[in-house]
Amino acid sequence: MPARKVFIKSWGCQMNVYDALRMRDVVAPLGYAPTEEASEADLIILNTCHIREKATEKLFSELGRLRPYQKARAQLGKRTLLAVAGCVAQAEGAEIQRRMPYVDMVFGPQAYHHLPEMIARAHREAGHVLDTDFPPETKFDSLPEESQAPSVSAFLSVQEGCDKFCTFCVVPYTRGAEYSRPVASIVAEAERLVAKGAREITLLGQNVNAFHGQGPDGKAWSLGRLFHRLAEIPNLLRLRYTTSHPSDMDDELIAAHREIPQLMPFLHLPVQSGSDRVLEAMNRKHRVDDYRRAIDKLRAARPDIALSSDFIVGFPGETDADFAATMKLAEEIGYAQAYSFKYSPRPGTPAAAMQNQVAEPAKNTRLAELQQLLRAQQERFNAGMQGRTLPVLFENTMKDKPGHLFGRTPYMQAVHGAAPERFVGMEQMVKIDKTGINRLAGDLHVD
Ligand code: SAH
Ligand code: SF4
Ligand code: F3S
Repeated sequence: MPARKVFIKSWGCQMNVYDALRMRDVVAPLGYAPTEEASEADLIILNTCHIREKATEKLFSELGRLRPYQKARAQLGKRTLLAVAGCVAQAEGAEIQRRMPYVDMVFGPQAYHHLPEMIARAHREAGHVLDTDFPPETKFDSLPEESQAPSVSAFLSVQEGCDKFCTFCVVPYTRGAEYSRPVASIVAEAERLVAKGAREITLLGQNVNAFHGQGPDGKAWSLGRLFHRLAEIPNLLRLRYTTSHPSDMDDELIAAHREIPQLMPFLHLPVQSGSDRVLEAMNRKHRVDDYRRAIDKLRAARPDIALSSDFIVGFPGETDADFAATMKLAEEIGYAQAYSFKYSPRPGTPAAAMQNQVAEPAKNTRLAELQQLLRAQQERFNAGMQGRTLPVLFENTMKDKPGHLFGRTPYMQAVHGAAPERFVGMEQMVKIDKTGINRLAGDLHVD
């Protein structure tokens, strides 16, 4: 088989990270080995994200940067296939092909299992393959087994797509309808990951807690039930999941936080806004009180659970009073960490056509105010770990700090500390002696 190289660059959410790894697996049997150098690649895949502004411009400038590599290699008689994948490809496929004719392949997140055929066609027809269909068969049925060792902390997609249609969001258009994988194929993948060295698995889905995959008994299993099954896998030390929707936080999943020690006490549960009026205009299908109740139940089940959220400021029609309600909610909940974004009109979504868009300066002030609060909360949460001894799962060595390892606490905090390399892949008790906004530090004292 000819020795070929593939370069993959990914933007966006963890599902894109997972997809990028799986694309690598799909092309491995064709002889493509991964490379970090775009200039030496025979196949370049840009795995894009469309969630917020300037996605398309960013892609075009990246393509402009890569074009010289393609040309230089052509002069040496070598072909470089250039592919655009992911959510921008799904949303803007035709436009990409029109504006960038030297792009050979454009395909969406549900079509990358067709890569071998697309590569063959691109070679035959000198390019211009477009595959943005939502095929009737799912990619999960056609993906090969993982070709390389996973990291200590691995991702596993269990659910994809979204039927919720929040008025600001592109995901239902780029990822398609909600789909859950069958339990058996998830368990098999988890077992393979653990056999190859993974010790933590994060289940992924745009709406992961809407999971309703078919169980071995033929019935639809909830995410809580799936966690009970995964917790039976020996050597799988930690389980996590992201991203969840407040409306799908059912009692079985909440109880799993009490019943399953491997299920980590950290939850990313985006609320977006603290105002019912705005939540309604966003078509979020939950009210602020529903969110509060879900958090109360979670805290009753697992008192130390650390919380994270996404917030959007400056959604069309958001007033000062609406924004004040968001600040109030954030203060009341107290987050371990959270992400906040300025509303960005996405072409084709209902909110982009709303007449009452918020002016940029107001968006900026609100974002700065919210971010200041969230940073202070994060700093306080981390500072609370000072002097405590916490279980840390060591994930890898640190390139720039020899003799040090990188790990995470159950609450997702990054930990840096001096520890022997053989502790990678192990959970160890570490005394935290330093805390900062982005990480904790503690050395492992080995006798
Ligand atoms: N499925 C998840 C989130 C998907 S997108 C959920 O339902 O919460 C990740 C985050 O990007 C969202 O939570 C939202 O905060 C942000 N986001 C999505 N569309 C956006 C837009 N048009 N403008 C600004 N932020 C957006
Ligand atoms: Fe987007 Fe809403 Fe679906 Fe989340 S629930 S992916 S924000 S449409
Ligand atoms: Fe982005 Fe698509 Fe994920 S738009 S956030 S890569 S689902």
